[in-house]
Amino acid sequence: MIAAIDMTDPALVMGHASIDEQHRALVGMIEELDERMARGEFGQGVLDAIQGMMAYAATHFDDEESLMREAEWPNQAEHRAMHAEFMQKTGGFFEDAPADSEWTSLDVLRFLLHWLLKHIKIEDRRFFDWLTERSA
Ligand SMILES: [Fe+2]
Ligand SMILES: [Fe+2]
Repeated sequence: MIAAIDMTDPALVMGHASIDEQHRALVGMIEELDERMARGEFGQGVLDAIQGMMAYAATHFDDEESLMREAEWPNQAEHRAMHAEFMQKTGGFFEDAPADSEWTSLDVLRFLLHWLLKHIKIEDRRFFDWLTERSA
């Protein structure tokens, strides 16, 4: 099982209430999925939870992109492409994976979690630092 992610780690806190809330929820969903899969659950319930996590990720990315659009952030196209890559990877991985292919699904999940944490720490940070500086 993955170690619990400390979402109060300053590296993961953007200082934007709703975005921070969404990051916590998204990471929490992936952690919960990891726990269920590590316990050997690979049924329809887990597939539904993956769909739910993806839908939530899509909503989060939309909200973040709206903020970037409103702020006219110069690097938003590049950032949007990264979000699209996450959705494409997640969709591809899980659509092709049969419900009972446990180790691949777990590996995929951990890969996605690492991708997401790195994305928050580096890429989201870049935008929110810029936003904070600009409104200072
Ligand atoms: Fe984000
Ligand atoms: Fe992002």
